[in-house]
Amino acid sequence: MSYLEFGYFSTFKARLQLLKMPTDTKKYIVIIAILIALFLVYNYIIYTNEGYTAKVELSPMAMEGQLLWQKNNCWSCHQLYGLGGYLGPDLTNVYSHPDKGPVYINAFLNSGVKTMPQFHFNESEKEAIIEYLRIIDKTGYYPIFDASIEPSGWVNIKYKYED
Ligand code: HEC
Repeated sequence: MSYLEFGYFSTFKARLQLLKMPTDTKKYIVIIAILIALFLVYNYIIYTNEGYTAKVELSPMAMEGQLLWQKNNCWSCHQLYGLGGYLGPDLTNVYSHPDKGPVYINAFLNSGVKTMPQFHFNESEKEAIIEYLRIIDKTGYYPIFDASIEPSGWVNIKYKYED
């Protein structure tokens, strides 16, 4: 009973109640406590593991670009990593695309091509958006063709920064 000698269980009444609990209920409490502990450990491992996150940071300029990206709702029509709206193309690798790249992006932004609205960005805003897309491009490939599946079921993806 020594483990009951602290906190809440130290009052005589609470101790009595715990003793009166059916064995099944006690078993459930232990099982749930173990599950919660496993859940916490699992989350800790997943969210603190740096092995599976891209090693890239947004520069202040790229952050400004990201802000413009969000404010102007580029995401409603474009995707990054395949996620977003589908009216326009995915822009994950537009920066390094052999026929596209920074000059092409620059030309696109204020032109109003087809259903893409005509924006009125100034030069530094255009530069910021291009910088944002440059760093996004460095994080990886979309779509990913260079991936392998291990016998364990784990999928190995090729990241750009490993090049
Ligand atoms: C209303 C929908 C819409 C919004 C909002 C939009 N775009 Fe577009 N965008 C398009 C469409 C559609 C195309 C394809 C036009 C074409 O190929 O002729 C396109 C093309 C592009 C391209 C060229 C892509 C390529 O691979 O050829 C770039 C770069 C681009 N958009 C950037 C942006 C940015 C940055 C924003 C936000 C500031 C934005 N777009 C907002 C619809 C949109």
